[in-house]
Amino acid sequence: MKYTLLTQDALAQKTDCLVIGLPGRKTVPEAYKALDDALEGTLTQLLKSGDINTKQGEISWVPTPGQPSKRLLVVGLGDPKELTEQKLRKAIKAVMSALAKSSSSSAILSQWPLQTSAAAKKAQDVSAFMCREAVLALEDARYRFNDCKSKKKDPSPIKQLKLAVEKTAKSSLGQVLKQTEALACGISLTKELGNLPGNICTPDYLGKQAKSLAKDYSSIKTTVLNEKDLKSLGMGSFLSVAAGSAEPPRLICMEYYGGKKGAKPHVLVGKGITFDSGGISLKPGAGMDEMKFDMCGAASVFGVIKAIADMNAKVNVIGVVAAAENMPGSKATKPGDIVTSMSGQTIEILNTDAEGRLVLCDALTYVEKFEPASVVDIATLTGACVVALGNEVAGLMSTDDGLADELLEAGQRTGDRAWRLPLYDEYQPLLDSNFADMQNIGGRWAGTITAGCFLSRFTKKYPWAHLDIAGVAWHSGRNKGASGRPVSLLIDYLLAK
Ligand code: BES
Ligand code: MN
Ligand code: ZN
Repeated sequence: MKYTLLTQDALAQKTDCLVIGLPGRKTVPEAYKALDDALEGTLTQLLKSGDINTKQGEISWVPTPGQPSKRLLVVGLGDPKELTEQKLRKAIKAVMSALAKSSSSSAILSQWPLQTSAAAKKAQDVSAFMCREAVLALEDARYRFNDCKSKKKDPSPIKQLKLAVEKTAKSSLGQVLKQTEALACGISLTKELGNLPGNICTPDYLGKQAKSLAKDYSSIKTTVLNEKDLKSLGMGSFLSVAAGSAEPPRLICMEYYGGKKGAKPHVLVGKGITFDSGGISLKPGAGMDEMKFDMCGAASVFGVIKAIADMNAKVNVIGVVAAAENMPGSKATKPGDIVTSMSGQTIEILNTDAEGRLVLCDALTYVEKFEPASVVDIATLTGACVVALGNEVAGLMSTDDGLADELLEAGQRTGDRAWRLPLYDEYQPLLDSNFADMQNIGGRWAGTITAGCFLSRFTKKYPWAHLDIAGVAWHSGRNKGASGRPVSLLIDYLLAK
């Protein structure tokens, strides 16, 4: 796929499809007057007759025989006063998904008349926003999971998109375009790993994936620790999760140093449960296949590291993945078993299905050795988070207000949003155990927060935040598949460093 910037008159170019945005008025905006004239008033007529729907996010196709562009793809922008960034994103998604499904192999995205909208702060910001969101939306629409299909799905015919921009903004937007393409590439890796089934995407497979990233990018250094290594590090908690599985666990480290020499690194830790059956506390059967997505936190770490390396970003980032398969078996951990974590704290495992925190706590202790500037863990950790926040926003918990704000703002800027939940001390006693330092579940209430509280006991040595992505990492139903979230949020957060 080829993305380029176009500084000539978009309306005069030869292309399969010209994409325009029309506000919800009955008249043609100034920006498209010349186009309407060339079409002998077709746009004016279609607006009058209601055959072009200008409601937010509605799509219309207009054939334009004899014109330099073969057809128009029109998206409604609705009332300009009500056009928030989020709604503009939605309109861009709708139009790019229609474009990807069409027969057009080339297209031009014209500059939409957005000056009066809430999103329009500065013209250049609007252009950057448009370029970014268009590329991300089209790459999302073009994505196909083909690895396991003997007959590949038809690829989208679209091969080239030109983005119309002002001449003066060309060099800065060229930068935006490059970065967004790298981001899209990272997101696509995250989806790919997420979508792979548990019998292929094992902890060992993830380790090999990390090694192959190190081969592709000289800026990435990968280390993979095996079961024996974990044992000598004293990771009794991590190991207890893998105990029932024939697949050995892996602790994967990908180091990228693009920032100042000696500057403390920002560490990401991903939950990489390649399949979560629940273990002896077995999950119910319905929908259990979706627990192959229980490594989406890990997948997002891979996506971020790849994108950061592609961008040659000037930051020091370390991605750590705690990979294991959670299965029942004669050697599996049993409810009531007590294990000793790398930190020395003991844990009574009351429910083997609360396994994410058990692998993460040891990974969180392990990363102390990097003396991190910050640590963010990313995990499909609790069903309770889906109950609380649904599928729109990720749960955020943190022991550091500054770090929490940075992540929340990155979420707002990218539309890959998170919402903070409290980690008040008052929740901590819910983890008290009669037999060990703590138990691994906090009971019926505030399940997302007690999971966060559990992790917080292992993160005293650095500023730390936790993203619970259980509700946002994948889509269920007809469009079942990994979403690639929250790679956009994390990249934005890291680039702002
Ligand atoms: N991977 C699950 C969380 C999950 C469930 C994510 C459904 C997305 C959809 C996690 O390992 C888990 O099983 N958590 C338990 C914790 C409970 C036993 C305290 C849960 O949420 O039920
Ligand atoms: Mn579980
Ligand atoms: Zn899990």
